[in-house]
Amino acid sequence: MENIVIEQQDAVAVITINRPTKLNALNKATIQELHEAFQSLNENAAIRAIILTGSGEKAFVAGADISEFAHFSEEEGTKLAAEGQRLLFDYVQNLSTPVIAAVNGFALGGGLELAMSCHFRVASSNAKMGLPEVTLGVIPGYGGTQRLAQLIGKGRAMELIMTATMIDANTAATYGLVNYAVPQDELLAFTQQLAQKIVKNSSVAISKAIEAINANYEDGVNGFQTEITNFGACFATADFKEGTTAFLEKRKPIFPGN
Ligand code: COA
Repeated sequence: MENIVIEQQDAVAVITINRPTKLNALNKATIQELHEAFQSLNENAAIRAIILTGSGEKAFVAGADISEFAHFSEEEGTKLAAEGQRLLFDYVQNLSTPVIAAVNGFALGGGLELAMSCHFRVASSNAKMGLPEVTLGVIPGYGGTQRLAQLIGKGRAMELIMTATMIDANTAATYGLVNYAVPQDELLAFTQQLAQKIVKNSSVAISKAIEAINANYEDGVNGFQTEITNFGACFATADFKEGTTAFLEKRKPIFPGN
């Protein structure tokens, strides 16, 4: 892996996008490496939460790599968006392992779209977020028009995309785009604490919860029905047996699925 670094601390993996001289811009190779990293970490039962961040103090990801697509045709542009969404953005959203974005600086264009694909976000106080694609004569193509409106509402999404405005971490927290804004030197420790809380719980149940929450945003899918199905499916799991038994026996559960 040339463009990313993966570290593991107990049940939590940290993926760092590592192209600091290009402000971690997402080129094709980085998208492919991220896909492979997410796939292998998701298949690794020992990993129960993933943190995604950027190297350096300046940028999470400053966008898709503009130098790679500046000369593209309509067909190539369409393929770029479709492939990127399939390999990375939809892939991360639907991963059964929880993914938290630790937004450590600029998250622009594809960078904010990547952060929005994660299950939730924490930002450092120096972070700046926006979808400035219309300044380049293009629109967000990695799910940004959909996920920004889902997260902060249609009116604010319309305004941010049309004006290409960058918002700071506190504004992003007020909008609900990130869950917390914290000092930069505390970002990773703070995000790790959240991850450590997650990995104590049933990973089997968490994956079913992710699927049910995401179902609300899928065309033609009834999220309430997905919830009923996944709720029922939990009753057939060893984690459910252990969780309820441990509660009744007044002890901490040891989830077999973890
Ligand atoms: N794609 C390709 N390269 C990028 C990039 C991107 N999205 N964002 C930054 N870079 C590169 C710059 O070209 C520069 O490379 P160079 O040193 O080889 O010239 C390097 O990263 C540093 O960026 P620079 O612009 O010099 O830093 P800055 O502090 O002056 O500005 C930003 C920071 C984030 C405001 C500015 O880089 C920027 O506007 N980037 C593009 C943001 C964008 O439009 N993203 C959406 C893309 S769809």
